[in-house]
Amino acid sequence: MCGIIAFTGNRAAAPILIAGLRRLEYRGYDSSGIALHSRNKIQIHRAAGKLSQLEKKLPAKVAGKSGMGHTRWATHGEATDENAHPHLSTEGNIAIIHNGIIENANALRKALEASGVIFSSQTDSEVLAHLIAATPAETLLESVRQALLQVQGTYGLVVMDAERPGELVAARNGSPVIVGIGEKEMFITSDANAILSHTREVVHLDDGELVSMDQKSFQLSTLDAASATRESITITHDAGSLELEGYRHYLLKEMFEQPKSVERTLRGRLDHRFSTARLGGLNLTARELLDIRRIKILGCGTAYYAAMCGANCIEQLARLPSSAEPAAEFRYRNPLIEPDTLYIVVSQSGETFDTLAAVREIRRKGGRVLGINNVVGSTIAREVDGGVYMHAGPEVSVASTKAFSSMLTSFMLLALQLGRIHDVSPQYGTVLVEALERCPEKIAEALEQDAPIAAMAKKYCVAKSMFYIGRTDAFPIALEGALKLKEISYIHAEAYPASELKHGPLALIDPDTPTIVLLPDNDLLDKSISSLQEIKARKGPVIAVTNSDSPEIVELSDDVIRFPACHQFLHPLVMGISLQLFAYHCAVTMGRDVDQPRNLAKSVTVE
Ligand code: F6R
Repeated sequence: MCGIIAFTGNRAAAPILIAGLRRLEYRGYDSSGIALHSRNKIQIHRAAGKLSQLEKKLPAKVAGKSGMGHTRWATHGEATDENAHPHLSTEGNIAIIHNGIIENANALRKALEASGVIFSSQTDSEVLAHLIAATPAETLLESVRQALLQVQGTYGLVVMDAERPGELVAARNGSPVIVGIGEKEMFITSDANAILSHTREVVHLDDGELVSMDQKSFQLSTLDAASATRESITITHDAGSLELEGYRHYLLKEMFEQPKSVERTLRGRLDHRFSTARLGGLNLTARELLDIRRIKILGCGTAYYAAMCGANCIEQLARLPSSAEPAAEFRYRNPLIEPDTLYIVVSQSGETFDTLAAVREIRRKGGRVLGINNVVGSTIAREVDGGVYMHAGPEVSVASTKAFSSMLTSFMLLALQLGRIHDVSPQYGTVLVEALERCPEKIAEALEQDAPIAAMAKKYCVAKSMFYIGRTDAFPIALEGALKLKEISYIHAEAYPASELKHGPLALIDPDTPTIVLLPDNDLLDKSISSLQEIKARKGPVIAVTNSDSPEIVELSDDVIRFPACHQFLHPLVMGISLQLFAYHCAVTMGRDVDQPRNLAKSVTVE
């Protein structure tokens, strides 16, 4: 999704902005641009396509010690040079970059056009430049504030004024804005990863807040012109982990990081003495946890599938009725909010609009909501009543892998903690603690199958369509496996509970349609083997994903992907790794852009 970086200081701004935009590339974009302040003028450079297109257009020397840059993901108007940000006011004195959607852009545009303004793009964002220019005040901050009072919609906005060198003003409503504090220099960004090589000290703006800054200081205020203060926080993750480190793709790197990222999710959270897990940030006493009667988990996409796994896992261990729902569906159906239900939202970015809207709906109705998030200080993490940071580290590839495994790990920890409050015995608690401790090792073993899975992917990626099937806790993994394949290889894939096959989809099984059958070694194995028979009887190719030694599986399958024997509590997590590898190798064989698949953005901050 769109990205923002702005800088004011004593160094040349252009290289800082371009490097920052490069760090934002992973979020997905289709055009980019920068604005530089030099000699009381604002120069803009914009280009459709990849950042390299913008770099080609830049003159050898670009002057300016303050400026801003933007990566745009087209919503209003195509991805063209003219629609790329920054946008300038007619006189060229005000420049803006904007993330979000201006809902009353049409009405504002008509009014501005009636007063003689000529628009040069089809974007909703351009109205902001003209509106600010048409709202003169003593300070730039005041112009921006007055202009924003006329605006409906969401924004993460940065503004520069040709007459005010070194000054930047930013505002936030529904789209992240983060201030970075350097040594006699300041930054603004929508994603802290863009500025980590310069500073780790950041301040997150809240909705309805503005910031004005020069190279030495910044002041927070609100749309109602009240001043605001906030302590800065220090970001601790390693900027080095944003590099490829020798891997061909971020996706590959992130899959292979999972033994480490899951270890970080587990770190300090297993308690041998009481055979349980301890999640420090829940902000709920044992008594409050005991009073919970129901669990509802919400998320979008991969996070929703993790939520389904989480609900299964909690219901099995804690024996509390638990369910998952896509966050957008939940928020639009005027949900009942119950005082004894614990609501949990799960989101890697912590910025997904639909998930955030669900949090607000629950809290507005008096419900209690916890967050499972990866990005520290993200909007969702700041708005929930408590929660768990996954500590998976930054996820750069658009398709989620290591965040998914850390989501599952977080849910297993929560299930164990709740289970031990209810009827999981200390003995079984110890078995589960020991099983969880082995997660990183089991993931590493699953990753050892990379080469055979790559060979299989070469054989199957010619298919037009694939099925994924699994029973009970394997079903959400089938959904996630199918999503990964769709997203990065563009092969059509559908997932079903194995038991549903005979109720319709079986009609589509034929020799050209492979089915990936999840067969974890559990009590339902025989039933799952009967699905293999159903498919083989229709001459469908079968790839079994199993950790069972059953010779029947080998007999009935065309290929077998093996994952390691482990406690069945871990099956969804470990099986999921094999499906990630399969999707990745299909996509690579087909020559796809695996890190930035078409039409997709890393975090979806619009409706
Ligand atoms: C799929 C994927 C998306 C995200 C979804 C929610 O690989 O990455 O489906 O899971 O957009 O994003 P977060 O977790 O940031 O809320």
